[in-house]
Amino acid sequence: MNLYERIPNNVNLSDDKKLQRALEKWLPNYLDWWHEMGPDGFQTKDVYLRTAISVEPDGWANFDYVKMPDYRWGIFLKPAAPGATIGFGDNLGQPAYQEVPGEFRNALRRIIVTQGDTEPASVEQQRELGKTCPSLYDLRNLFQVNVEEGRHLWAMVYLLQRYFGRDGRDEADALLERRSGNPDKPRILEAFNQPCDDWLNFFCFTMFTDRDGKYQLSALAESGFEPLARTCQFMLTEEAHHMFVGDTGINRVVKRTAQLMKEGDVRELGGIPLDIIQKHINFWFSYSLDLFGGEISSNSADFFAAGLKGRYKEQEQYEDHVVADQNFTMKVVEDGQLKDRDVAMRNALNEVLRGEYVRDCEKGLARWNKTLNEAGLAERLYLPNPRFHRHVGEYAGHNFDIQGNMITAEEFHRRKSEWVPTMEDREFVRSLMKPVTEPGQIAGWIAPPASGVKGKPFEFEYVRL
Ligand SMILES: [Fe+2]
Ligand SMILES: [Fe+2]
Repeated sequence: MNLYERIPNNVNLSDDKKLQRALEKWLPNYLDWWHEMGPDGFQTKDVYLRTAISVEPDGWANFDYVKMPDYRWGIFLKPAAPGATIGFGDNLGQPAYQEVPGEFRNALRRIIVTQGDTEPASVEQQRELGKTCPSLYDLRNLFQVNVEEGRHLWAMVYLLQRYFGRDGRDEADALLERRSGNPDKPRILEAFNQPCDDWLNFFCFTMFTDRDGKYQLSALAESGFEPLARTCQFMLTEEAHHMFVGDTGINRVVKRTAQLMKEGDVRELGGIPLDIIQKHINFWFSYSLDLFGGEISSNSADFFAAGLKGRYKEQEQYEDHVVADQNFTMKVVEDGQLKDRDVAMRNALNEVLRGEYVRDCEKGLARWNKTLNEAGLAERLYLPNPRFHRHVGEYAGHNFDIQGNMITAEEFHRRKSEWVPTMEDREFVRSLMKPVTEPGQIAGWIAPPASGVKGKPFEFEYVRL
């Protein structure tokens, strides 16, 4: 096989012998990791997958049957815009960085490693799910997400190996060594160490946690470090599908639950009661909020000043790209009470990005509530207050109810089972997870999708078992 067939790319890999050697050394380790930690039990099956083949907007992907280990994990960057400049911060208007600026080397490496670590982590979290798929359509979507997270890992490894020399290569190796949920060598961020072992968790994960990825990638897609920006821009193209899987997945569960609510007891009829769905929303939304980092952050100020990490849609949404003397008012805990505090805007950018994310999540809730409304039901799903159940930032170490009121630790523990999934809830959901693998069939706890993949009907044989 020639180089391009082994590693499809638009980064002139054949001209860069050093990088080529590094990637070729890493490739077999990656495949070992994929076999060990990728989807369990389906590696020899033909799956109807899309593969990125270029960055042309109208023809970037190819759909065909492929066995997952043969998937062509490629390296694709959006083409460079000539004369690109830094779009925000203290160096606004200066030429974009084409190499890593020395003074930000460690910070940038940390950003890339942290993003890169989430990609294989999610594959590890989801590796058992194929065995309990509700339909072949869903099974295919799971594997699509998995192979693309694998490609995102490639994208970050490319940056590490191409731009960070020796320690970049070491970091690329370490990305294959950490394991989700492993107490001795866990993944870096906590949401990526949480079990994701049933499909309700999977849909919540792709709705809420992949959506954090969208916002992180968007903030980096305008980075002054141009190779990072161009990499993230292309990753966002794929990420949209992951959130679609989560958003429509939950909507289909809600739709089925609504049908069953009119027939009798949802639980007895083999559906997932709304309160269990709500608790899963509470759990994954709160863990995903943590991924944005502390509300008040000197790192966020430094990254912005350096032109490395901006705001969501920095160029489109804002006029002032320097943000030297604005303030942001947020609630903090002071002397055991919630109080308003003015923070320099640059130090509040994690919170600003989190706010964008929350508004995006609310749109998902509106879609699910529309489904409930159309079914003639008065019940509604909601997002918990962002202070609820936080493990990072200003609210960590304090206790809040679902509306964001400060409560005692005793009260929180007394009421926790109303708000986040209990062991019994998880076991009940798991008890419904029986594989359905006949083309056109669907499990009883979820409605079929509105349409299939790439013009194919729902009945299409998306995975040949
Ligand atoms: Fe990803
Ligand atoms: Fe994703």
